Amino acid sequence: MSIDKKLADALLARAEKGDSTVLRSVELKSLFDQIKTLPPEERGAFGKEINALRQKLEHLLSQHQLKSEKLEAIDVTAPMDVNSSLPELLPATEGSVHPTMKEIAKINDIFSRMGFEVWESRSIDDDYHMFTSLNFPEDHPARDDYDTFITEEGLIAPAHTSTMQNRIYKARKKDLEAGKPIAAIVTDRVFRNEDLDARHEHTFHQLEGVYVSKDVNVGNLIATLEEFLSSYFGKKVESRVNPFYFPFTEPSFEFSLSCPFCDKKGCSVCSQTGWIELLGCGMIHPNVLKEGGIDPDVYSGFAWGLGIERLIMMKYGIEDVRHFQSAKLDFLRQFA
Ligand code: DAH
Repeated sequence: MSIDKKLADALLARAEKGDSTVLRSVELKSLFDQIKTLPPEERGAFGKEINALRQKLEHLLSQHQLKSEKLEAIDVTAPMDVNSSLPELLPATEGSVHPTMKEIAKINDIFSRMGFEVWESRSIDDDYHMFTSLNFPEDHPARDDYDTFITEEGLIAPAHTSTMQNRIYKARKKDLEAGKPIAAIVTDRVFRNEDLDARHEHTFHQLEGVYVSKDVNVGNLIATLEEFLSSYFGKKVESRVNPFYFPFTEPSFEFSLSCPFCDKKGCSVCSQTGWIELLGCGMIHPNVLKEGGIDPDVYSGFAWGLGIERLIMMKYGIEDVRHFQSAKLDFLRQFA
């Protein structure tokens, strides 16, 4: 006795289609029931045959299930939301450039077009570059304005980008003597020991600039800064200078620009004055040039330094400097 071929084929066809009820079907059960009706010597062979059929049915069913299951291919090199079935919970959208870095790129670009080369600063420096090379006498109280972090070895987290001035002069002295003016900016990070509030951060960025040639005057300084600021704000700005003090410039000025938001009429950005105090600048002190290997009797130059975050805050109406380092996505996404 063996299984009826037609019956077996019908069961196999159902399993192939994924009909899992076939395992509990009346037809299969009746085959098992038949065993008892057979003479004992035939039962073993027939039982084996039915078991083989059942295994085949199970195999076909599991194959069908494998085929129909949507197996997601995983690309281990892809961003995580590509592999995730929950993109809302895992917002692995593309990263974006930090707003400070974006604006620094614009600043570097404007000055490059004006013929300035772009330098970087460093995150750890020494007393010579931070103070001595910039005409700060030992123990002079002016050093107190630049309270920053100092290691036990006396290394300094620089409090301004002016630390690069001496290096720039020494590196470009030969070109200067060959008739090429020194024109350089530094856009980089600086550190201060500050009480933090909406206008003060312990870590921020500065834009330093130096220009050295023969017969350089304050008019060149003002024209250069006005040109840059007009380009950065996309609007012609005027400037105003007031006397100030820095050890590394003589004379020194505080440079204000006409408020680009109200055309000097007065608004909240300029505290109703029409002017915004923006940066420090001046004619490079002869001692600073001398320390950089440049003869102050032959050459003169101007320099300036300003906080980049302040500039960005003005441009975009950002009210708190602490946003920049907060890693708050809703702040950062506005600039993405
Ligand atoms: N280093 C100054 C500061 O951080 C800013 C500055 C003022 C830089 C005048 C200059 C300058 O180069 O000429 O407060």
